[in-house]
Amino acid sequence: MTTLPKPSDVRTAALERRSIRRYRPDPIPEPLLREILELALKAPSAWNLQPWRILAVRDPELKRALKEASFGQRQVEEAPVVLVLYADMEDALAHLEEVIHPGVQGERREAQKASILKAFAGMDPKARAQWGAGQSYILLGYLLLILQGYGLASVPMLGFDPERVKALLGLPAHAAIPALLPVGYPAEEGFPHHRLPLERVVRFL
Ligand SMILES: Cc1cc2nc3c(=O)[nH]c(=O)nc-3n(C[C@H](O)[C@H](O)[C@H](O)COP(=O)(O)O)c2cc1C
Repeated sequence: MTTLPKPSDVRTAALERRSIRRYRPDPIPEPLLREILELALKAPSAWNLQPWRILAVRDPELKRALKEASFGQRQVEEAPVVLVLYADMEDALAHLEEVIHPGVQGERREAQKASILKAFAGMDPKARAQWGAGQSYILLGYLLLILQGYGLASVPMLGFDPERVKALLGLPAHAAIPALLPVGYPAEEGFPHHRLPLERVVRFL
């Protein structure tokens, strides 16, 4: 069994994470990647719907093609793994059984399913996809911090052609892709944080 590294504390991870766009060629051990994904999948979502899905792309040819679909951004090819985070609301809604808590049984279970379906029935697939993408950004936030905690670098990316990415990876037309996430061991330091001060963002009432 591979021994997993000890993660840093969450404060250190938040302070040290920054976008990294150059990576060492070292592969990411699969047990470590699985552990990180397992932890990130603890992220919460409305109704616990978990509409997110992930493709972990390691194949060099696919990564090269993804780079082309990402306006040539080289980190997509250089990173040993590219996580393609997408939301598939149609799949999620077709499998509500999977996500409703086992503690909810009988009539309450059926009522919960019906109320979820009713909430989305009035939306067209595009609006549903948008909703799913919003939920998936919660998972993305978890991923960024957990990766950093384990000494792995990443850069969230929206600079890609979603239709090309969907065609390349065989994703359904209704899927939304909130981000591509190249991941690897860092080969640069990245830029120091430049953030709005707390006073600009938060008001205590
Ligand atoms: C949703 C999202 C999309 C982004 N898209 C890109 C991208 O396509 N290419 C890129 O180089 N950086 C991209 N970034 C990285 C941001 O530029 C970066 O997070 C921001 O400047 C703050 O810097 P830091 O991540 O180093 O703290 C994206 C970030 C987010 C959250």
